[in-house]
Amino acid sequence: MSQWRPGDRRADRASMLRVDQAGEYGATRIYAGQLAVLRRNCPEAKLIARMAAQEERHLKRFDHLMSERRVRPTALQPFWNVAGFALGAATALISEKAALACTDAVETEIDRHYGRQLDELGGDDAELAGDIAEFRADELEHRDSARAAGAAEAPGYPILTAAIRAGCRVAIELSKRI
Ligand SMILES: [Fe+2]
Ligand SMILES: [Fe+2]
Repeated sequence: MSQWRPGDRRADRASMLRVDQAGEYGATRIYAGQLAVLRRNCPEAKLIARMAAQEERHLKRFDHLMSERRVRPTALQPFWNVAGFALGAATALISEKAALACTDAVETEIDRHYGRQLDELGGDDAELAGDIAEFRADELEHRDSARAAGAAEAPGYPILTAAIRAGCRVAIELSKRI
């Protein structure tokens, strides 16, 4: 494999891995916040617990790739720990459907983010691209399950999802850089 040189257009894969790991970490924290609030046996909690298990798997895989490739995690990790949990808890406190609207919004942004990364990678780094493509399919399935379970019935759905999506975009940009 040829060495990257300044001026090369090759995607910055350390930054990619950093933001992806941060996102999967944030997802586990959001779901932890929701599961802390939701009644244990409600259908939404069961759905969310299933998705949370997949986020754990995504996170473990990126943790592994990061240590293998000696990529540092984002310095914002302690912040995402708290912010993710707070977002999850807050949405679940609004209602079960609002918790699902949160998944709907987050996964919409993550799908676009992973799609852009796959474009950027082009044919490069089949290992990373393979993981991203697989996880992207899971995230889309999360989004569709949340919608099928009634996310749009959440109070203030358009405003709630727009606000969460804007927050995700900021989180993505920050985690690429910091
Ligand atoms: Fe994920
Ligand atoms: Fe997800």
